[in-house]
Amino acid sequence: MTLDIATRDTSYSSPSLAARAARVLRDNDNGTVITAAPKLYPHMWSWDAAFISIGLAHVDVSRAITELETLFGAQWRNGMLPHIVFTEDAAYFPGPDRWGTEVAADGPEHVRTSGICQPPVHAIAVRRMLDVARRSTRADQEEAERFARRIWPALYEWHRWLVDYRIPDTSGLIAIVHGWESGMDNSPRWDVPYSGVRPGAGLLPYVRQDLLQVSDPAERPSSAEYDRYIWLIEEMRRAAYDSAEVVRRSSFLVGDVFITALFSLSCEVLAQLGHELGWPAGKLYDWAANARAAVAASRHPVSGMARDRDLRTGRWLDTESIAGFSPLLCGGISVRSREKLLSTMEGPRWAGHPDLLAAVPPSVSPLRPGFNPRQYWRGPQWPVIAWLFGWAFEYRGWFDRARKLREGGLRLTEDGSFGEYYQPFTGEPLGSHNQSWTAAVVLDWLCTS
Ligand code: SER
Repeated sequence: MTLDIATRDTSYSSPSLAARAARVLRDNDNGTVITAAPKLYPHMWSWDAAFISIGLAHVDVSRAITELETLFGAQWRNGMLPHIVFTEDAAYFPGPDRWGTEVAADGPEHVRTSGICQPPVHAIAVRRMLDVARRSTRADQEEAERFARRIWPALYEWHRWLVDYRIPDTSGLIAIVHGWESGMDNSPRWDVPYSGVRPGAGLLPYVRQDLLQVSDPAERPSSAEYDRYIWLIEEMRRAAYDSAEVVRRSSFLVGDVFITALFSLSCEVLAQLGHELGWPAGKLYDWAANARAAVAASRHPVSGMARDRDLRTGRWLDTESIAGFSPLLCGGISVRSREKLLSTMEGPRWAGHPDLLAAVPPSVSPLRPGFNPRQYWRGPQWPVIAWLFGWAFEYRGWFDRARKLREGGLRLTEDGSFGEYYQPFTGEPLGSHNQSWTAAVVLDWLCTS
């Protein structure tokens, strides 16, 4: 593998990098929402909005609150938090007409959304926002506390929806009905389950907009992958986005170990927030424990890496990816197993690979056959993922490890382009530039280091 660091621009000092990051968030503000990216993603995405609110908390607590209120304003009546809240911008496919969620009995009024969800990181965002605001002025602190108290029941309902509809089998894993729900759209994690998705004759023609927005189409998922993505939407539309019916019928149903781990962590965080703010924990500790146990039980007997489960075939998916480190997010394994997993993550197969520009775990190990350093979730490093592991490590009291991830993340992003993802050997920013969530996590790293 050749190193081509000439593709990196100059690096910025911390204050000017922070100023650039804040500027990206300001520039991506379309007046209603802070879009996930200026061109590629001109709407609000659920987990993007959570990270964006964390970054915003450092510059404008009120604006951070508005962002999450907008997202939760689109929450479905059954509790689901949709993965996209659409703006008026038409330059994205699939847009609201293709989703056609108006057929859903449970959809929100006055706002158009997609019909699937994304990883439940929102309780973590509220926790972080509150912690940041508590170090700011008294007014910021009080506003953040009022908001956290107000949003808490909606967060609980969102978690309850996941438990009610998305734990369909005894593995206890939270199931997804579309790879987009995982946030890791084309990860090799989904290759086997997607091979069972066969787009039917009812797949209407479509034009991809994403390929027009990136410098090289090879950085995005392939056309065959997209056909399957769009076909699954067609299946859900035919089921009128009924939560139970979609799980019964979808040709893609996978227990997602990464979402399950985040869910466990988020339930715990939400329960602790409730304790501070005067809300009873309800079933949150039980949900957290069950999810934690499901993640632990998914581990491969030799590698100790956590595994997804194809719920259509009942088979474990042995594909190794960053999601294999999920037990490090939620705990529930012995100290010995944990140390083994940590040394795998930090070792030469992953973040410690000698050719990486920054010590950040890539989406797939560079030593895995099929690793592609430029393609979306098939190899690149994603700063938000480093942030999530770093936050969880800090939460668990592993401060040194959290600091290393923060340093690696800043090394990766110091060129100031705020790429959506990065080529791990060269640090070349890929996908969209000025991606809001990258700017947001960089701001959080800089303001806490
Ligand atoms: N990440 C998806 C996209 O690329 C949407 O969820 O459009």
